[in-house]
Amino acid sequence: MRRIISLTLALFLSGTLAFAQSTPQLASTLPTIPQARGIGGHFGMVVAQERLAAQIGVGILDRGGNAVDAAVAVGFALAVTYPRAGNLGGGGFMVIHLAKGARGNEARDIAIDYRETAPEAATPTMFLDAAGNPDPAKSRDSGLSVGVPGTVAGLALAHDKYGSGRLSLAELIAPAIRLAEQGFRVQDDLADSLPAAAKKLARFPSTAGILLKNGGKPLQSGDRLIQFDLADTLQAIAARGPRAFYEGTTAKLIADAVQQAGGIMTEQDLANYRAIERPVVRGTYRGRTIVSMPPPSSGGVHLIEMLNILEGYDLRHLGRGDEALHYFIEAMKRAYADRAVFMGDPDAVKIPQAGLISKKYADSLRAEITDKATPSADIHPGKPGEHEGQNTTHHSIIDRDGNAVSNTYTLNFSYGLGLIADGTGVLLNNELDDFTAKAGASNAYGLVGFAANLPGPGKRPLSSMTPTIVLQDGKPLLITGSPGGSRIITAVLQVVTNVIDFQMPVADAVSAPRIHQQWQPEETVVEPGFAPEVLAALTARGHMIVPTRPGTSANSIEVTADGYVGAADPRTRGALAAGY
Ligand code: DON
Repeated sequence: MRRIISLTLALFLSGTLAFAQSTPQLASTLPTIPQARGIGGHFGMVVAQERLAAQIGVGILDRGGNAVDAAVAVGFALAVTYPRAGNLGGGGFMVIHLAKGARGNEARDIAIDYRETAPEAATPTMFLDAAGNPDPAKSRDSGLSVGVPGTVAGLALAHDKYGSGRLSLAELIAPAIRLAEQGFRVQDDLADSLPAAAKKLARFPSTAGILLKNGGKPLQSGDRLIQFDLADTLQAIAARGPRAFYEGTTAKLIADAVQQAGGIMTEQDLANYRAIERPVVRGTYRGRTIVSMPPPSSGGVHLIEMLNILEGYDLRHLGRGDEALHYFIEAMKRAYADRAVFMGDPDAVKIPQAGLISKKYADSLRAEITDKATPSADIHPGKPGEHEGQNTTHHSIIDRDGNAVSNTYTLNFSYGLGLIADGTGVLLNNELDDFTAKAGASNAYGLVGFAANLPGPGKRPLSSMTPTIVLQDGKPLLITGSPGGSRIITAVLQVVTNVIDFQMPVADAVSAPRIHQQWQPEETVVEPGFAPEVLAALTARGHMIVPTRPGTSANSIEVTADGYVGAADPRTRGALAAGY
């Protein structure tokens, strides 16, 4: 099977990510990546994209909360302090490692899927224009793009089943309510990201009244952001639990706002929403265990698929030079080709997951790799076969008992659709663009998809989010994940291999420049910082190398013999590793 795929241009708009295609001439004007600093701690560590939220997480650990409690508090806080991606109106994934003894259990790993769902009235053709072509204005820019938000249900489920039991949901939400009500100073990435989003936000008076207060201009560094409606919504959830979000006034206001923006979401869709606990996807890599997010994220499956391919090479001996990077690129191409065809909502399509993550399948893919680049057009989704069984912002947290949480959640684009549902303070996502509008079409990140990922009633769009915990001897070694659209999976791959193969301390592993290849388009994008000779050698092997701005933000924790080391990704201002 060979597929020629027509690509719509991967253009990019979203936040930390900026997958803007840049020309080689621009390379010298691209910002360089600052060096992260590793922050040590023995009792707990929180690494999150915004400092107030990270500090709230540490405060929860200090009060006896476990890593799950802290992750829930950070999740609610980021909805206030980091509105471009932190959210109540979006969705995401949480991977948890519960240490032995926590809540009386053996050690175990849990995945919570709180991905947005398509409304019941969704159809496979909902994102096409009258001529039957994909219409990005519908899937990215209108109420039709809004998925039923999952975050509130997901965080509440995590707290209820896996929190320490020592702190109530209301206690975990209280710091977020305070920040929304009393306000906080705009700084760092919030100040950096608002100007680019201003035009989008200005379309909705309900949003402009909160985020664009300087006569229609975005809030600036030093301004105070106060969000009374959001405080009320949080207060309602604190008082009455998640149903206060999914039913009653808040649900009605959200459904009304979505419909006014051209969408089809109903109050019933909100009432029907459920977060789902799923078995984690598990692999091994050089004796460590990889625990990650299963479908409807493609992240864990393809992370493991790529690691399986790379396990066949002596990366440590090769170092991070052109030969090793060549193998990375070739592994990435093959995994993303499989992603395009096989992956979707596991409750709606059959995914050959066991095949995709098997060592045998990786062996067959590795056997195709030569010392020259394989053109993307010659790579086709593989035949992983039937096997037994069926199968964007990131924070990493660990507590004193070794319970760990890796959480990635998002509104899709920076500030999502840009629409705050009037009266709720809740900024809504445009996640449904992650569906494939039509077989062979691509989403905003240039990710091609086929029938497995078409929209449908109640379906969850395929994601790339890859919250991951690497275990060594059954205990956390590395907790990582990232925003960055299509670049998430390859970012996580490189953090993991930087630590395991290239033996970098976690701060270096996070700071090191990254490459990214996603099968289509042909190009491999490279962040600033690689030696020109290495890039020239990759070009000589036949790779199309394109410089790109630094993107992604892999806030990570490593467990070392000396304690916990947190590394906030230096690519985005304001991220913080806070430990004690
Ligand atoms: O679920 C996904 O894969 C995307 N909607 C994530 C978007 C994203 O990472 C934007 N971030 N920078």
